Amino acid sequence: MRTPMIAGNWKMNTTVSEAIELVREMRQGLDKIDNVDKVICPPFISLVAVGELIKGSSIKLGAQNIYFEGKGAYTGEISPLMLVDLCEFVIIGHSERRQYFNENGGIVNKKVRAALAVGLKPILCVGERLEENEAGRTKEILIEQLKASSARIYYLSGMIIAYEPVWAIGTGRAATGEQANETISLIRRNIARLYSDGLAQDMRILYGGSVTAANTTEFMKQPEIDGALVGGASLKATEFLSIVTQTSAIK
Ligand code: 13P
Repeated sequence: MRTPMIAGNWKMNTTVSEAIELVREMRQGLDKIDNVDKVICPPFISLVAVGELIKGSSIKLGAQNIYFEGKGAYTGEISPLMLVDLCEFVIIGHSERRQYFNENGGIVNKKVRAALAVGLKPILCVGERLEENEAGRTKEILIEQLKASSARIYYLSGMIIAYEPVWAIGTGRAATGEQANETISLIRRNIARLYSDGLAQDMRILYGGSVTAANTTEFMKQPEIDGALVGGASLKATEFLSIVTQTSAIK
């Protein structure tokens, strides 16, 4: 059995004091729900303060990015070693990083390897762009992204995959539950091909892209979907709590 997971990707939103306020609003409600892994991913500068606030609760912390080197002259970057004491998860290969910061498959692979090497659990994002989807290339793109991300990695311990079709992110145009279920099943079959059936069956694969309290049920009733990576709706305490509560009731 895979424990469902709802992760909130706050992206480049909230000052430190806004982050503290947001966590205060959702902390108690989230803590009460125990059959779902609840992960929040605030900006780097708020990780310490948020980490303090959720200490002793069942809420887990994730970062939104890492650099792949351990330390050294890389001005402005944050290494896996700096994060490992602060958080359990790290989002890697988000489409916004691929699109705006030129992160290609090779870079994503280095980051996944660097995270796994120190025991951080990657939330690896994959997903096709609108034009790729319309050209019927979704399967090919996803297989390519999975292969590139996992090259020379022999065991993906603790890794989570988030299927985030780029056309559904921040657009209000979510995939349907059935579409997402089918694509996630394809991803799982390919993980089985690249690794093993056992690892694929154990791996949590989330859906992301315009998930809200209003469409959570549609996604969570699908058997292949193990949870969600939530953007905009994770910045509203009551909405995020509702997404987690509904997930807990369905899964
Ligand atoms: P939205 O939920 O705002 O569409 O963002 C999804 C996402 O990119 C999460 O990583």
